[in-house]
Amino acid sequence: IIITPDEFKRVSEAAREDGRAPDEIRPLKIEAGILERADGSSYLELGGNKILVAVYGPREAQIKRLQRPDRAVIRCRYNMAPFSVEERKRPGPDRRSVEISKITAEALRPALILEKFPRSVIDVFIEVLEAEGGTRCAGITAASVALADAGMPMKDMVVACAAGKVNGRIVLDLSEEEDKRGEADIPVAILPRNKEITLLQSDGNLTQEEFEEALDLAIKGCLKINKIQKEALKRKYGE
Ligand code: CDP
Repeated sequence: IIITPDEFKRVSEAAREDGRAPDEIRPLKIEAGILERADGSSYLELGGNKILVAVYGPREAQIKRLQRPDRAVIRCRYNMAPFSVEERKRPGPDRRSVEISKITAEALRPALILEKFPRSVIDVFIEVLEAEGGTRCAGITAASVALADAGMPMKDMVVACAAGKVNGRIVLDLSEEEDKRGEADIPVAILPRNKEITLLQSDGNLTQEEFEEALDLAIKGCLKINKIQKEALKRKYGE
């Protein structure tokens, strides 16, 4: 078969490198409640990402300066295992993990009914065992399941997904490879019921139209992922 260069270009660009459609997320699995000692936990796999989350609390804040008289405080620690990435990650916090920890707490906070637990603290530990792009979003999605598993009263789940631009096209849930080669990436977290946005970051350049298309696509991705969050909780707790 002989095809013209134009046809070849069209065919080769139609699918993404891993064969996904532009609006397709990577294979996703979520399990709730897998750690014995934690009050709540979850395990998530999204493509090549493997993430474990443990939640402790709400429990009385031992440190005085943490205590709020009218509500609980949420603390998050996002951590990458040294073996989670191609090039060994130096153990301990770095700029990136401090930033992701902060935005994760901010993305989760609006869903939590913190006023029920004055002077308390909720600790969320996100351990990235293997990373393959989009770990901040996957961490937020998994943390929300672990918080629900801990019995934390919530207004809604929190669910996150990124969209971005790769080879001039707006695509959902960028892999590490696409993130590296791509032109832009916007991680988004929402409360799915009222679509309140609790995280919106932007890396790279998009026109206003592209940005709006990417935001819409990310929200659609969030709604798909939310179904899988709910199924994970149903499997553990029934209807
Ligand atoms: O993970 P996320 O996309 O939220 O954050 P990023 O800073 O955009 O990182 C993108 C990807 O780069 C991560 O998911 C990892 O797969 C990879 N990475 C790495 O290989 N080594 C690091 N020290 C940090 C990230």
